[in-house]
Amino acid sequence: MQDLHGRNINYLRLSITDRCNLRCRYCMPADGVPQTDCDGILRFEDFLQIVRAATHLGIRKVRITGGEPLVRKGVIDFLGKLSSIPGIEEVALTTNGILLADNANALKDAGIKRLNISLDSLNPKTFTEITRGGSLEAVLKGIAAAEKAGLKIKLNMVVMRGVNDHEVLSFAAMSINNPWSVRYIEYMPTIQESDWRSRIVSGAEILTQLQEKHTLEPLGHSRYCGPAKPYRIAGAKGSIGIITPMSSHFCSSCNRIRVDSMGWAKSCLLSDDRLDLKPYLELPQPHLIGALQQVIENKQLEHHLGCEQDVMTPFSMSSIGG
Ligand code: GTP
Ligand code: 5AD
Ligand code: SF4
Repeated sequence: MQDLHGRNINYLRLSITDRCNLRCRYCMPADGVPQTDCDGILRFEDFLQIVRAATHLGIRKVRITGGEPLVRKGVIDFLGKLSSIPGIEEVALTTNGILLADNANALKDAGIKRLNISLDSLNPKTFTEITRGGSLEAVLKGIAAAEKAGLKIKLNMVVMRGVNDHEVLSFAAMSINNPWSVRYIEYMPTIQESDWRSRIVSGAEILTQLQEKHTLEPLGHSRYCGPAKPYRIAGAKGSIGIITPMSSHFCSSCNRIRVDSMGWAKSCLLSDDRLDLKPYLELPQPHLIGALQQVIENKQLEHHLGCEQDVMTPFSMSSIGG
């Protein structure tokens, strides 16, 4: 269905848990985030009900996010059910990769074809520093298992000045010998640290770094690019993507809405507007369809994060899954 700005909304992101087995510095504040108690969390059956309703409005793709989706018990069975809902053409997952080695084959069997994996450093010490304790080795094993299982892989690197910006070229090198999409993401200051401006490395800067070393061929935008601007290093097996929510946002072509683990529907990642879907889960399906329609219709034109007009309440990305 189209929103009031003529954008075709066909993509739903479900954050099935706000829990995570990492605590990345750009995602969560130092003192952590309050966790929702289990009673408030939607059951998998509720998410399936929401997706069935959403197909009536033209939702065709669902991405499962978290927190970390693989920490939720029963997720594989849920993904299998999701993949078989009539009208859903693609189910994808965004993960931090820590539990991937043990789950890659099961994900494939459950109908997942594409995985986005967060990876912000190839240096074990820096990785542990950014994730506040995570193991790089576990993620690299997870990526290898996903590759072996035949899953299509995108790697997400949030580039931060003075933290991992010197690794841009090492990440690019991974796209040469592997059929992966390596994506650089501008840091979004959603937790509003005091020094956030100095941390942002713009997409333009990243591109300059890459072009000093490589010949980059711009690629056409396909349905698999998402918000990324795609390129290929000449002769590479994989591709490169640059995601610029801060310097050049992609709101005018945004095709997505979100539902979090408590049942709040959000039409924009970077807006406080939200609608509680829980009451509608108790009513006949047309009511739930109507509520989702309202969410799509009210989708704001663009975000104001980091601008003068920014009045957004700080939030941890782990509550909504990016
Ligand atoms: P696909 O297109 O399905 O591959 O997904 P994606 O690239 O949107 O998903 P992913 O979960 O890998 O997110 C990549 C980055 O883009 C993350 O940093 C997200 O927070 C960011 N992102 C995704 N959607 C939006 C959006 O609607 N607005 C903004 N500002 N950022 C987004
Ligand atoms: N800025 C940019 N990207 C972020 N992500 C999490 N927090 C932020 C942030 N503040 C990314 C994760 C993951 C994706 C879902 O969102 O790295 O890959
Ligand atoms: Fe967990 Fe992802 Fe947030 Fe890192 S960015 S703490 S992996 S939800």
